[in-house]
Amino acid sequence: MKHIIFLNTKGGCGKSTLCEFSARELARTGHAVSVDNTDQQVHVTLSEIDNADFCLYDTAGAFTGANMELLKEASSENTLIIVPLLTSKNDFKEVPFLTSKLTELNLIDRTKFVFTNVRANSKSLIERREQMKALNLEVAKWTMPTLEDFREQRDTSRTRNEISHFLSEIVL
Ligand SMILES: Nc1ncnc2c1ncn2[C@@H]1O[C@H](COP(=O)(O)OP(=O)(O)O)[C@@H](O)[C@H]1O
Ligand SMILES: [Mg+2]
Repeated sequence: MKHIIFLNTKGGCGKSTLCEFSARELARTGHAVSVDNTDQQVHVTLSEIDNADFCLYDTAGAFTGANMELLKEASSENTLIIVPLLTSKNDFKEVPFLTSKLTELNLIDRTKFVFTNVRANSKSLIERREQMKALNLEVAKWTMPTLEDFREQRDTSRTRNEISHFLSEIVL
């Protein structure tokens, strides 16, 4: 069983969208998937879920009590933290804080940053990649393109194709 937590203290960076599409694609390709949301449930623990190949967790955009509980458990489990990240200056400002928190929780080695809502090879993306490299942080090669199909939560060959690239690079 693998646990995947989508986390960022910023809202609007694609946590829910990436989580939702990933769950769908994993299920479509024959995996047993469970999805939880620390936004909606008082208690989300890693151990509650049985029989799933992948447990995905969408989270509220902060280090809330529920998120902290989940993250504390995550350190002793087979867990991956995915941090979707916009390339805007404002969102990037959050990276040092996020990094220090995840380091404190001993989770930085299990963390992958993924740039979302970007144009491949845009100037800001290239700049951000260099900054991430300087900070020694792991960033996925795959970036989530801005697509109306993502925005409208459409299950299309385009979104399936994108997400399957993401999954094979980072998750599978
Ligand atoms: N790759 C994308 N292309 C276009 N729109 C996107 C993309 N990813 C997210 N969105 C849109 O951006 C908004 C924020 O995404 P969401 O997944 O809800 O972020 P979060 O859960 O981090 O707050 C939503 O309206 C969503 O539909
Ligand atoms: Mg959300």
